[in-house]
Amino acid sequence: MSFKGRDIISIRDLSKRDLLAILDVAAKLEKNPEPELMKGKVLATLFFEPSTRTRLSFVSAMERLGGQVLGFENSDVTSVKKGETVWDTIKMVERYADVIVQRHKIEGSARLAAEASSIPVINAGDGANQHPTQTLLDLYTIQKEKGKIDGLNIGFVGDLKYGRTVHSLCMALSHFKTKQYFIAPPALQMPQYYLDDLDEKKLPYVVEQDLLKAAPELDIIYMTRIQKERFPDPVEYNKLKGVYQIDKSLLEHSKPDVRILHPLPRVNEINMDLDETENAAYFRQAANGVVVRQAIIGLVSGMIP
Ligand code: CP
Repeated sequence: MSFKGRDIISIRDLSKRDLLAILDVAAKLEKNPEPELMKGKVLATLFFEPSTRTRLSFVSAMERLGGQVLGFENSDVTSVKKGETVWDTIKMVERYADVIVQRHKIEGSARLAAEASSIPVINAGDGANQHPTQTLLDLYTIQKEKGKIDGLNIGFVGDLKYGRTVHSLCMALSHFKTKQYFIAPPALQMPQYYLDDLDEKKLPYVVEQDLLKAAPELDIIYMTRIQKERFPDPVEYNKLKGVYQIDKSLLEHSKPDVRILHPLPRVNEINMDLDETENAAYFRQAANGVVVRQAIIGLVSGMIP
């Protein structure tokens, strides 16, 4: 199925074939860059919520494909401040650009933008819900670091309740033969909805609180930040912040070739002493965002058939 004109809103909308097709195009672009592919095309980056990696890697992706970028990184400088809706914002931007990338704190806002838009909309994160392009670069990183996805034990650690990258990646991994470990205190565990989905598909998973107990089994440790901004009660956040803080000593309890991923930003959950190890894959992971987002832009714009 062609990607031309498609929105990328949720991992749920993508089949295993779609996921693998995007990873394949990304690998080809990494090997053979296409500096003219998007010449004359415009990408709109609408960031109603803060971002460093997602926004900058989309900008870098588009510019390295020869295209142009417009947009904003802060809704305070837009007419949203005067009361304009997301719907009306999209009705304007669809006339100025060829593809829209949007991040917004409200769950479902990307779907709304796609309904308003006549051009493809890519969800760059909607509240605690989904972050599908992060998932694609996570899959790309896992495949590149480990040479495969099937057969791996993948452990998610930290804020699994509010972590949209975890929700998206868990869904994507359900297409593969992996065992998922959900390592979090009960108050931050995976929403039951995602576990029910795994149960329905008869896929193996472990719910655990003790990282050191699970560590020897894991091929991938996917660390996450405790998401202060999504806690309704700051007292609850203060109780849970710093619940998992890993450093080099974790490697003594892990497989020698374990890879540590993190969508970033990190706060205090990964000590910098891990950065210099081969096991730390999080900066390589962030770098992979450029080719993966190039693949997505090229495919949904129809410039890559
Ligand atoms: N991984 C990620 O979404 O990072 P940013 O919030 O910096 O975009």
